Amino acid sequence: MRTGTSSTLSGLTEIIAQNVLVLEESMENKGINIPSLNDVYDSQLEFHNEEPEVARSIDMICRAALQLIQTVRSSKAILMQTALSHITASALRCASELHIATILYEAGPEGMHVADIAAKCGVDYRKLSSILRCLGKQWIFREISPEVYANNRLSSLLHKGKSYEDLTSDPDTIYDKPEAALSAIVGHMSDEGAKATSYLYEALTDQSFGFSDEADHSAFSLGLQTEKSVWEYFEEPGREDLLDRYAAAMEGLQEIEPPNLAEGAFDWASLPPESVVVDVGGGIGSVPIHIAHKHPEIEFVVQDRPAVIADGVKRWEQRNQAGYIHFEEHDFFEAQPIKNPSVFLLNNVLPDWSDKYAKKILMRLRAAAGPDTRLVTRDTVIPYSCQVPVSDKTLSIPGVVVQQLPQPLDINGPSAFSYDLSLFMTVLFNGMERTLGHMAELLRSSGWEIEKIEEHDAGGHLPSSIICIPLKGWRDPREMVSKYRMSFFG
Ligand SMILES: C[S@@+](CC[C@H](N)C(=O)[O-])C[C@H]1O[C@@H](n2cnc3c(N)ncnc32)[C@H](O)[C@@H]1O
Repeated sequence: MRTGTSSTLSGLTEIIAQNVLVLEESMENKGINIPSLNDVYDSQLEFHNEEPEVARSIDMICRAALQLIQTVRSSKAILMQTALSHITASALRCASELHIATILYEAGPEGMHVADIAAKCGVDYRKLSSILRCLGKQWIFREISPEVYANNRLSSLLHKGKSYEDLTSDPDTIYDKPEAALSAIVGHMSDEGAKATSYLYEALTDQSFGFSDEADHSAFSLGLQTEKSVWEYFEEPGREDLLDRYAAAMEGLQEIEPPNLAEGAFDWASLPPESVVVDVGGGIGSVPIHIAHKHPEIEFVVQDRPAVIADGVKRWEQRNQAGYIHFEEHDFFEAQPIKNPSVFLLNNVLPDWSDKYAKKILMRLRAAAGPDTRLVTRDTVIPYSCQVPVSDKTLSIPGVVVQQLPQPLDINGPSAFSYDLSLFMTVLFNGMERTLGHMAELLRSSGWEIEKIEEHDAGGHLPSSIICIPLKGWRDPREMVSKYRMSFFG
């Protein structure tokens, strides 16, 4: 007779088998071989997660396989390995900063002995050997014969698109090429991100930091020993490399989304010609860059801090693409200078702030909105790690996707990446990614009402666009306070 556990194991195995068939069939229909972890990365050979059926099958396989592993592995070993998981991130940082993927790209399929790699980068050979083996356990680099390494599918993505000679002779331009964007994210997360993360507990339990909403009172402040927020820290003289890497990292975030996802964030074609779309806190314009050339009739204005705008202008001119993007310095905590645009876009901005500050940004936009202005906030909407009760009000929001998992899949699992990202926002800024219920509450209290959501999956793997209209009858509380003061004092 099957016990509970054995039926769980067989159930999970069945889910894997059924969904593997879907993937194999999809690849066969396209005449493409299943990509191997041993070959170098080829975007044509990836499973295409923009196809909903394929994306769902990938999700099912990952969920079932992880649940299977967690079920059968030693519980004590799982906890121990989790406690040591930061070591892999540190190893990844070393490999990326030393440009090992580029060295191996230049070495070709025969690879290179780790002693020669170490000599080229000027580091200890035995230590580098440990680093590469640590990464190899995650299929990042491949030991093709004892101590000889070559690139594989994952490591080859860390090649920054320039020669090793160029990377080392001109460190200011390391992240110039689009191929380097992923390394920029890796660097941001595993360098200043990891240093900050290691102080999460201290920040959480500190008398003044623990309950703070301030961006300059986070684990980042403790880890990096600074009284500045992340943005101010990056802009200090001598940290141009960090600012540059962060800008490239934001572009990289866009790259890991399926192509055309940003384009689907809103029905841009529905806008009349010469409509103005304001990308607030738009960085170097990573979203408009993907849309402007397809909609030259729309005027995109990217607003950000002065140093970021200067970088955005430089990058946009280098690209010399069609379309219209205007870059403008603007602090989103100040009054919004563009009144009544068609769209205010906030892409990956609100998670950087606690509710107190997110509300300030949203209220500035509400005060500048016209009756037909739409607000599009595009972030990860984090799922609950339990079933959403049928009484939950967010279930009636048009476009919401409800998580439906076959038995015996647990709702926990690979959506964990969105939980990691959310906690990372707390570490850096005292911010967070939000659930849909949390977003609805925040938006309403700032004068916005959700019209619909463009949600691609219920697991929070991909960013969702929450499209809002101005909440009717809403009055800016600051305006009411100043009117009250004026009438009180005559
Ligand atoms: C996470 S990034 C997102 C950038 C861009 N929206 C994207 O998705 O690529 C957040 C952006 O907010 C900008 N920012 C931070 N504080 C700001 C402020 N007070 N006013 C305007 N922009 C600000 C940062 O410089 C950064 O470019």
